[in-house]
Amino acid sequence: MQQLIERVARDLVNSNYAIALTGAGMSTESGIPDFRGPSGIWTKDPKAERRAYQTYPKFLANPKEYWAERLSGPSLLGDLEKVEPNPGHYALAELEKAGILKWVITQNVDNLHQRAGSKSVLDYHGNAFKLRCANCNARFTSEEYDLERLRREGELPPRCKKCGGVIKADVVHFGEPIPGDVAHQSLEEAWKCDLMLICGTSAVVYPFAELPRVARQRKTEIEMKTETGIYAVQKIPAVTIIELNAEPTPLTEEMVSDYLIQGKTGEILPRIVDEVKRVRK
Ligand code: APR
Repeated sequence: MQQLIERVARDLVNSNYAIALTGAGMSTESGIPDFRGPSGIWTKDPKAERRAYQTYPKFLANPKEYWAERLSGPSLLGDLEKVEPNPGHYALAELEKAGILKWVITQNVDNLHQRAGSKSVLDYHGNAFKLRCANCNARFTSEEYDLERLRREGELPPRCKKCGGVIKADVVHFGEPIPGDVAHQSLEEAWKCDLMLICGTSAVVYPFAELPRVARQRKTEIEMKTETGIYAVQKIPAVTIIELNAEPTPLTEEMVSDYLIQGKTGEILPRIVDEVKRVRK
């Protein structure tokens, strides 16, 4: 393990434009269950996953009922106000502060990267503490709408303060398109990076799982002299892709990633930061 930690630290220090991609595995050590791990929400309750596919069609068909349901029950992920970032979140925030990590692109809606101090975060599947207009894509914090009062006074669904459109939770539901601004910038970052650190995701949900494959396509041309003295141009991968996950994923099996560090993000990321500091000394 120590050798792998030294390798990823060296790769990070030598990178010019590193980004991190994260999933639910980042937050299990904060007490939020993941989805497809051994004790994941969908693993334990496949019916809940099937029900989750009904949420977006329900919003489109009847936003009032969508909101009544949303306000009546607890979130699948539990009370996100009561959880704290873990050492893995703080480690990524430290790598950003050190100028190494340019962006965190997360599938998590728990806002824990931001609470740990990360400034450049793309919430690819939305943020549980925000609302979004389904018409103009404007985003609002939950505090900007008194949803309980709207429910009491029969004024659901909430309306956009900018265009009057229907407001939905910012969270992206199954079958819902990724908001254009986030989708576009994430693709740009995946294409621009020279190092991608993928933490705590099973990498089976698309289009997010496409981002490492986009990065893998990028090649750099190097000139090299052959035995016969002729110069030839060779295309080599321009990006180092590293997975940090409790188990291998399709990215490992298909060799989209260069290597996997198998373990817990909350334990390994702080060790990587320590090693980066040691290397940079
Ligand atoms: N450290 C490292 N890996 C972990 C840890 C941990 N502490 N805890 C769990 N894992 C691994 C699991 O073994 C699993 O491979 O993280 C992965 C989490 O995968 P998923 O549960 O599938 O979560 P994610 O990839 O983020 O899911 C993507 O699916 O259900 C939707 O919208 C939801 O954003 C979510 C998306």
